[in-house]
Amino acid sequence: MPRCDGGPELLTGGTAFRTFHESKPGDDLVDLLIQARDEDDRLSEGELVNTVFSLITAGHETTASMIARGVFRLLLHPGQWAELVADPALTATAVEEILRFDGPPASAFMRRVTEDIDLPSGSLGAGTVVMPNLNAANHDPQAFPEPGRFDIHRFVHHPPNPHVAFGYGPHRCLAASLARVELTEAIRALVTRRPALRLTASPESVTWTDGLVYRPVAMQVTTGG
Ligand code: HEM
Repeated sequence: MPRCDGGPELLTGGTAFRTFHESKPGDDLVDLLIQARDEDDRLSEGELVNTVFSLITAGHETTASMIARGVFRLLLHPGQWAELVADPALTATAVEEILRFDGPPASAFMRRVTEDIDLPSGSLGAGTVVMPNLNAANHDPQAFPEPGRFDIHRFVHHPPNPHVAFGYGPHRCLAASLARVELTEAIRALVTRRPALRLTASPESVTWTDGLVYRPVAMQVTTGG
């Protein structure tokens, strides 16, 4: 096993990745990134460590929270849950609406405006740093009629991803396809294996985390027997 003391050494680089690579190189993503640092000199030590750190943090909690928020949303709409039970093939389309409706609460990463731009709400000068609000965009009535209505059929006749839950542009979530598969499979498993799932307490009684990660702490449910 590679030695890794974690903590500050992991965040600042140190020997964790070097030890791992030298002892047991493989062909997975992390080893390819290490190779990019060692052999092709395309990543600095800091870039390597931060990239792996981002992959782990961005890769787990985002999807886990999204599944919890999505299931909560579906349980608030028993009719739509029943439709998924009757036709689990609808799940992938439902996931798009879940992503739009309950996307990540944190804004996309910050952007620096590269040229002066006029927006309906005002002008932004080159150099301004902005933090786009993805949830606001995903609830824009010009893009999504009746944005406050949760509808698992909304994207049936639309392009697969008109929402911006995964961001936009060159830094759009690089794992959007993986996340879609994870969300779809998790929810499909629930509707097929626990079709009678429903809330047993009022939605208002559900408590939520209040940090960057946003999801129900616990939900009282029954699986129907
Ligand atoms: C439902 C699940 C997920 C959601 C909603 C989500 C959302 C996002 C968003 C909004 C961004 C910022 C995009 C931008 O600035 O335009 C982002 C970036 C990123 N995501 Fe995800 N993500 C999810 C799952 C994942 C997973 C599973 C991974 C890795 C396995 C991942 C890795 C990353 C990375 C590395 C970035 C930074 C990309 C860059 O800066 O070029 N995400 N994600």
